[in-house]
Amino acid sequence: MNKMNPGRIGLFTSDRGRAEGSAESPAGGPVTELIQVGGECVRKYTGEFWTAGQRRGNSIHEISYRACFKPQLPAFFISRLTEPGDVVYDPFSGRGTTVIEAALLGRGVISNDRNPLSIILTRPRLKPPTLDDIADRLEKIPVSREAEYGVDLSMFFHRDTLAEILDLRRYLSDRSESGKEDQIDSWIRMVATNRLTGHSRGFFSVYTLPPNQAVSPERQRKLNERRSQTPEYRDTHSLILTKSRSLVRNLSATEREMLEKTSRDAVFLSCDARSTPCIPEDSVMLTVTSPPFLDVVQYRLDNWLRCWFNMLDSDLIGNQITVTRSVQDWTGVMTQVFRELHRITRPGGAVAFEVGEVRKGTIRLDEYVVPLGTAAGFSCEGILINRQRFTKTSNIWGIGNNRAGTNTNRIVLFRKSFRINHQEEIESPEEKTGLK
Ligand SMILES: C[S@@+](CC[C@H](N)C(=O)[O-])C[C@H]1O[C@@H](n2cnc3c(N)ncnc32)[C@H](O)[C@@H]1O
Repeated sequence: MNKMNPGRIGLFTSDRGRAEGSAESPAGGPVTELIQVGGECVRKYTGEFWTAGQRRGNSIHEISYRACFKPQLPAFFISRLTEPGDVVYDPFSGRGTTVIEAALLGRGVISNDRNPLSIILTRPRLKPPTLDDIADRLEKIPVSREAEYGVDLSMFFHRDTLAEILDLRRYLSDRSESGKEDQIDSWIRMVATNRLTGHSRGFFSVYTLPPNQAVSPERQRKLNERRSQTPEYRDTHSLILTKSRSLVRNLSATEREMLEKTSRDAVFLSCDARSTPCIPEDSVMLTVTSPPFLDVVQYRLDNWLRCWFNMLDSDLIGNQITVTRSVQDWTGVMTQVFRELHRITRPGGAVAFEVGEVRKGTIRLDEYVVPLGTAAGFSCEGILINRQRFTKTSNIWGIGNNRAGTNTNRIVLFRKSFRINHQEEIESPEEKTGLK
């Protein structure tokens, strides 16, 4: 492999205000190599381009979701490849890290995810209500305390906690069905969905796995036996308020304004990423996304309790979400995703496609991704490998692919060429990121 001078990639380090190392380059800057992928020569940049400490992600992101990435990842590309007002898209949006970060930076957003929980968890954070409004609304929720469970959840919740959860569930369902669910209800729905189960006293449940990985009732019973624990009462309203306060704790007035402004034209979809006919062609300046990776995450099993709370059919959703067991099946699906991305991307626009570490790094999905993008008509600007030593924070809010003290993101960057004939005059994404 041909080691190259990192050149303008040094811009990344000056943005962070200090020199950074990487596994390959203990002396400082990132390492650039030329590698052969599917008959093409591709630049590969390895370094620590962003870290948890560099710029703390805004607290508004702190909603847990399996295999989510850190806000620093989309921020890196959005700030370099788009201008305020440009449209940023994520076809596999999850908890909405890309679109929330784009909104904080004053960009327009389109969010898509086959799982409707994604909209429930993302949209309300573009328009946070005041804490007083949330407290008032919680007080108005009718208390029936009817223990009409339909499903036995006594292994997770104290009976009084469960009665409160059922009241809230019924209230939100009525508001939604009567078309009266407003911004405050949706916020409460989002926070409650996030607080259902977890591993601290900040959640409604007894100790269990983190909130994005609900275990089955049977496994929870065994966990309770092993830990000799029984669910204690939790005050759901006070926990909703505490989490609400925490989510907005470092949101500035300007950022609130940005979110609110973006929310007016924000688009939320729950399509299959292969077919998004309501997104006009040539409309998106930048896509930053991470697709489902092979079979590593079982969104259906993880989400059954969150679906129950929101009256969603988790089996139906599970069947619609892409789960592929072989690289061949995965590339088949992603081939179609790239065709769709090429259709909707503006000439000169870019796609940053993150694939993380799969099967302990034995499968380099990034190298499979390169020919998929180029077959769809994009040019490959390079592969960017971000290695970082993870901190406690990044471990919590981060990432499904941490191991042994490092977290690696593998991003393939593509560009759609200009149809008009003045490429020379317009700076390409590759140049703007310093990859050239
Ligand atoms: C790796 S997660 C994305 C996480 C996201 N980057 C974040 O920070 O939260 C992949 C997402 O793809 C969604 N998904 C799976 N198959 C899909 C499909 N065919 N079309 C659209 N979304 C899909 C899953 O529901 C999941 O939310």
